[in-house]
Amino acid sequence: MPDFANPFIGTVPRKLTHGELVRAIMLNISAEYEAVHLYLAHMDATDNEDARKVLYDIALEELVHVGEFTSLLYRLDPVTATKMEEGFAEVRELLASRAPGEPAATDAGTGQPAAAAPAGQLTVGSLLRAPKP
Ligand SMILES: [Fe+2]
Repeated sequence: MPDFANPFIGTVPRKLTHGELVRAIMLNISAEYEAVHLYLAHMDATDNEDARKVLYDIALEELVHVGEFTSLLYRLDPVTATKMEEGFAEVRELLASRAPGEPAATDAGTGQPAAAAPAGQLTVGSLLRAPKP
């Protein structure tokens, strides 16, 4: 929560190192998500339609800030960018997989059939479809 009593709280007597800046941006992203949660919780807690409309609009603006900070983080820290891309790929692969007898998965973005893994590459889906011993 905000601490306005001391205007210098959170400041340091020097410039941030690159590593400290990366971690500060990560903290900023967390703060933006916390703001989204707070505004949506307040929206849910009132029946005042004007307040609900404004809170929802501001919550969406905070998501734009999440995107801006995340884009900056990708530029500042390629390791984070690589790891986040790995996570995106893992979820794409997981959700594109299917159990035996299930209809083919579709790409959430396009609605087209999901791309199969290259021949010889094991995926969660290929493990589920493996012949039973
Ligand atoms: Fe924000």
